[in-house]
Amino acid sequence: MDGLTFLSRLQQDSFPVAFFDPQYRGILDKLGYGNEGEDRGKARSSLKQMSEDIICQFIAGLNRILLPSGHLFLWMDKFHLCTGFTDWLNGTQLEVVDMLTWDKGRMGMGYRTRRRCEYLIILQKQPRRAKGVWKIHNIPDVWLETVERNGHAHKKPVRLQEELISAVSNEGDVVVDPAAGSFSVMEACKLRNRKFLGCDIL
Ligand SMILES: C[S@@+](CC[C@H](N)C(=O)[O-])C[C@H]1O[C@@H](n2cnc3c(N)ncnc32)[C@H](O)[C@@H]1O
Repeated sequence: MDGLTFLSRLQQDSFPVAFFDPQYRGILDKLGYGNEGEDRGKARSSLKQMSEDIICQFIAGLNRILLPSGHLFLWMDKFHLCTGFTDWLNGTQLEVVDMLTWDKGRMGMGYRTRRRCEYLIILQKQPRRAKGVWKIHNIPDVWLETVERNGHAHKKPVRLQEELISAVSNEGDVVVDPAAGSFSVMEACKLRNRKFLGCDIL
């Protein structure tokens, strides 16, 4: 189902942790060599892309459902990371508290440089608080984990997501992902005895 509809059905101020991995249009625009969806990027192009307006609506919906001091793990592409994404937080109670780089252990696309990393922005809903809320203190901010290529084009690292879930929630808590793709967050939840609520439009 549509992730925005899904979020509108969840109770406000109820969940300690959510993940959001937008289907960024920007990457395909910036890497537009003219053969998108033909020779390159076939799997990517077949997925439904999100405009910035839709991404903002998702973030507003996630802000609504998070508990006070709850965390949102937001995957970010290089272009938005460099040109700015903080406008997306306007009108929410979310603020940036950390960032992590995922080293995929293999090279991807790119003309000037070949992409090997993805970025995760760590946001917290007010009030900003670390003590007693963030429980694991040895997660490195560069995380090396290779994901098998045979599934969803954007599958994220399960072990990293497991660690993050354990850092900010307890067994039995519910974790939310409104654009779940391969449902890698659900896999991580099963491994750490958390419940999962999520969907994907496809
Ligand atoms: C970057 S992928 C997520 C990958 C996921 N984190 C994983 O580990 O597999 C983004 C997903 O958003 C989905 N999507 C796009 N628009 C959506 C919408 N309005 N509601 C829910 N899902 C949507 C796409 O189908 C795609 O699977």
